[in-house]
Amino acid sequence: MTNAFEPITIGATTAANRVFMAPMTRNRATLDGVPTELMTEYYTQRAGAGLVITEGIQPSRVGQGYIATPGLHNAEQTAAWRTLTNAVHAAGSTIFAQIMHAGRIGHPLLTGFTPVAPSAVRAPGGTHTAEGRKDNVVPRELTEDEILQTVADHVAAARNALEAGFDGVELHAANGYLLQQFLSDNVNLRTDRWGGSVENRIRFPVEVVKAVAAAVGPERVALRISPGNTDLGIVENDPAELYTALLNALSDLPLAYVHMRETGERDLTLKVRAAWAGPLVLNPLYDEHAPHEALAEVLEGGIADAVALARPYLANPDLIARIRTEGPYNTADPKTFYGGDAQGYTDYPSITSA
Ligand SMILES: Cc1cc2nc3c(=O)[nH]c(=O)nc-3n(C[C@H](O)[C@H](O)[C@H](O)COP(=O)(O)O)c2cc1C
Repeated sequence: MTNAFEPITIGATTAANRVFMAPMTRNRATLDGVPTELMTEYYTQRAGAGLVITEGIQPSRVGQGYIATPGLHNAEQTAAWRTLTNAVHAAGSTIFAQIMHAGRIGHPLLTGFTPVAPSAVRAPGGTHTAEGRKDNVVPRELTEDEILQTVADHVAAARNALEAGFDGVELHAANGYLLQQFLSDNVNLRTDRWGGSVENRIRFPVEVVKAVAAAVGPERVALRISPGNTDLGIVENDPAELYTALLNALSDLPLAYVHMRETGERDLTLKVRAAWAGPLVLNPLYDEHAPHEALAEVLEGGIADAVALARPYLANPDLIARIRTEGPYNTADPKTFYGGDAQGYTDYPSITSA
């Protein structure tokens, strides 16, 4: 048997088990980015997870990439999150806020601003706005001052997160959003100190992590990465070199954890793992019909200290109980992933109510 059900210390808090809920954008906040009662119900249903990691939360209006995603950049949002974190804590779990600046993903019709990025390189695809789906636009290249302001926006959002009762923040450097855009070879074409060499391309994520850690304490800070992930048109020519450099640059910081999303070869995962001596949470590639097998492989194999699962938690509010019995599992319905109401959100049955 694995140690999936043994507690684990993550920075300043202890998670009751090692089956974490991975971050999932569900687009059910208000158009002003305020979390709702329905969101509280959804997260509380899933409080069997040792750690609940929220959906991506924008640290500023310009950092919003999708409609009806929540923010942590004003008092109203922060107060509403407080209700939600209280409920998750009362249900026995811990909760980190994922801070996500979408960078070049977004639209002026969504935020009133042209999206920003390391360089003016348009992303493939589009995003939903109040006027329907629109193609992504050519983003504006951030100036030096704006880069520093964006670091400060992450710090302010992290402070708000702690004020709202979160146990910590997970900084989103994965899946093609702003921090990974800086890391990439194709969206970061800068020739100043923020682009070019590996040392320069890791600078922005490193500065964000360091500044947030200095503000709220490194034990309350985590980093999510997805080495080699090509989502949203990202190109990384040498992910092993890039992420080894990134993690080496952070090695002095006792972060709560690094969270790696695996999208390719296990060999790359092992190389990245070797570069990080602190706690590693892995969101592995696995057979979605048998998440318990992923736990056994990753935890017994010593590949990571905890596992994060996304779609199994989306579809199974009582995933922990189902993992103990190795199933059965509900299947996630992609039609209700992004936006809508309680349907496909809080109405997945648990074993006792099935
Ligand atoms: C509906 C949905 C929304 C997602 N939103 C986010 C997000 O906001 N932040 C993030 O880092 N990853 C996000 N992801 C990626 C997941 O965290 C996870 O990496 C991916 O689904 C693979 O894990 P799984 O096979 O356990 O589902 C999302 C995935 C899904 C299915």
